[in-house]
Amino acid sequence: MPPSLEPIVKFFTCSISLLAVLIIHTKVLAQNRFVPNYDESAIPAYELPSALITNQGAAVTDASIWKESRRPEILELFAAEVYGRGPEACEIQHQTISKKSNAIGGKAIRREVDVKMLTGSRSTTMRLLIYTPKSAASVPVFIGLNFQGNHTVDAADDISITKNWVRNRGDVKNNRATEATRGTAAGRWPIETIIDRGYGLVTIYYGDIDPDFADGFQNGIHPQFEKEMSSVPQGERWGSIAAWAYALSRAVDYFEQDETIDAERVAVIGHSRLGKTSLWAGATDPRFKLVISNNSGCGGAALSRRAVGETVARINTSFPHWFCDNYLKYNQNENACPVDQHMLIGLIAPRAVYVASATGDKWADPRGEFLSCIHADPIYRLLGNSGMGSSGPPAEFPTAQAPINSGRVGYHLRTGKHDVTDYDWAQYLDFADRHVK
Ligand code: GCU
Repeated sequence: MPPSLEPIVKFFTCSISLLAVLIIHTKVLAQNRFVPNYDESAIPAYELPSALITNQGAAVTDASIWKESRRPEILELFAAEVYGRGPEACEIQHQTISKKSNAIGGKAIRREVDVKMLTGSRSTTMRLLIYTPKSAASVPVFIGLNFQGNHTVDAADDISITKNWVRNRGDVKNNRATEATRGTAAGRWPIETIIDRGYGLVTIYYGDIDPDFADGFQNGIHPQFEKEMSSVPQGERWGSIAAWAYALSRAVDYFEQDETIDAERVAVIGHSRLGKTSLWAGATDPRFKLVISNNSGCGGAALSRRAVGETVARINTSFPHWFCDNYLKYNQNENACPVDQHMLIGLIAPRAVYVASATGDKWADPRGEFLSCIHADPIYRLLGNSGMGSSGPPAEFPTAQAPINSGRVGYHLRTGKHDVTDYDWAQYLDFADRHVK
């Protein structure tokens, strides 16, 4: 080759190798990029573990076998393999921080009560924002955790603003809540309607319990239980969902000491990751008489084996702190898990449960959420209840805005996005009237 061509040839060879490297790199990236499946015909073959066959293979034929042996087995499997084991109930102390006798247009009493969860000399304090109708003593209540702070559920200017970590979003910068975020979540909490219907509402900022990011459980409630947890194998230790659920139970411990709240009539509600939390709270604590899962999806109401939308591998990668380490075993290996989420709903039986999906929330797999209810139905029937309805579970996935609510397992598909709306609350209040009030 003439020497004058050498630089040109060199240039082209270099460019071609660079291009090759780029192509390989993009391919690797594409392989790692998660592509959710929404195609029913592409769902992997699966068989659900049976809720009504014991670990030893015996059929669960009556309520007493369920209560005495199968239910404890399933609860144990969820604790060891999915959410992790939490500690026993700790001591609590409470202190009223504020009281307003004319909240919500004069209809409600609004209080802020600090509940301190104590272990030896260590503690975590959560602030309960409590609304009770003025006209009644000892009311049934809804309790639900909130995402951005108690001051976001109501625009009132005198609700205290959390000093704890808050996710940056909108007006929240540097992980600190600001005045500007007062009332920003009010659309999800129709307090006046709840009060008018004769219920109280209690909400707690979830970051008071455990800030929602992976830090090896250095902050929040986990570290105070170091001693209690030392005998629990690493893979089975509680994650954040279990911690949030644990605190919901400690709030009920407090209700037992508050004469304005009827601790026997408590409904727990949660949206999304907090819907996963309300289901686990309902499974672990029978004092929740109604459990509401709003758009909870993967690790909540949706069947994991369908792997539609968010999958176990994906959730464990994005949110490694939510579940226990053992749950990692089921990344792209859902069939190996001894439980699926219909069994979580079954743990709530015979108490009432309501699962809600939204048409625009495909990530949470609405049909998978519905199928969990369908597969939990036989457990309710075994316990002598109507499950999804006295004439049997529905044969078809319902259309939107057509709630299934005549039995103890309620379900609806709502039009619209991943959210909590007045439509959702209207269904929950009607259902609560039948099962809590
Ligand atoms: C993400 C996550 C979901 C979760 C949701 C939420 O979308 O993937 O699992 O339910 O956040 O909590 O808002």
